[in-house]
Amino acid sequence: MSLRLGDIAPDFTAETTQGTIGFHEWLGDSWGVLFSHPKDFTPVCTTELGRVAHLAAEFDRRGVKVIGLSVDPVGSHGAWSQDIAETQGAAVEFPLIADPDRTVSDLYDMIHPNADDTLTVRSVFVIGPDKKVKLTLTYPASTGRNFDEVLRVIDSLQLTAKYKVATPADWVQGQDVIIGAAVSDEEAAELFPDGWTTVKPYLRVLPQPGT
Ligand code: BEZ
Repeated sequence: MSLRLGDIAPDFTAETTQGTIGFHEWLGDSWGVLFSHPKDFTPVCTTELGRVAHLAAEFDRRGVKVIGLSVDPVGSHGAWSQDIAETQGAAVEFPLIADPDRTVSDLYDMIHPNADDTLTVRSVFVIGPDKKVKLTLTYPASTGRNFDEVLRVIDSLQLTAKYKVATPADWVQGQDVIIGAAVSDEEAAELFPDGWTTVKPYLRVLPQPGT
């Protein structure tokens, strides 16, 4: 069965471009992003890994460790990383898991046989410091992911882990947020003494807390 939000992200030990990693130990108390790409030395994957390499400081700033994966061997990942640096202008400094026996791919249900029975799809798992899955995304091989969106969701996840709020459609850092539906007006008055705007009884808006 596929992983669901709130499940514990399965632990594993795997060979990577940065040596053998025990996943939970490597994560420590950090947030994590585990993402798969179908195949090394392919065009869309090259642009994706380059984009994540460019965003390294953004993941870092949010306390998020990033790790990639494909079914290719570690030597292939190393050689391809040089191409990525050359063509995309950023070095891949995060580890890439080599999963030729598909142990991790199977654990995370990253191979969708009706799409391709040997290669992983483009999966993304955001994992919280409690090791629970907070977000899953699945894209086909033909569509490169938007990693700014992954960062945007992480901003929302980190904010909503700290305050009893939710974030509206297309929200980005600094914009107004919504008081969670489970929060009564009485509790909201204690949590947000500066008040909020009631657009409808179920739609209560306030400036992003903590800014
Ligand atoms: C790509 O990255 O372009 C790609 C990888 C595997 C299958 C199809 C496309």
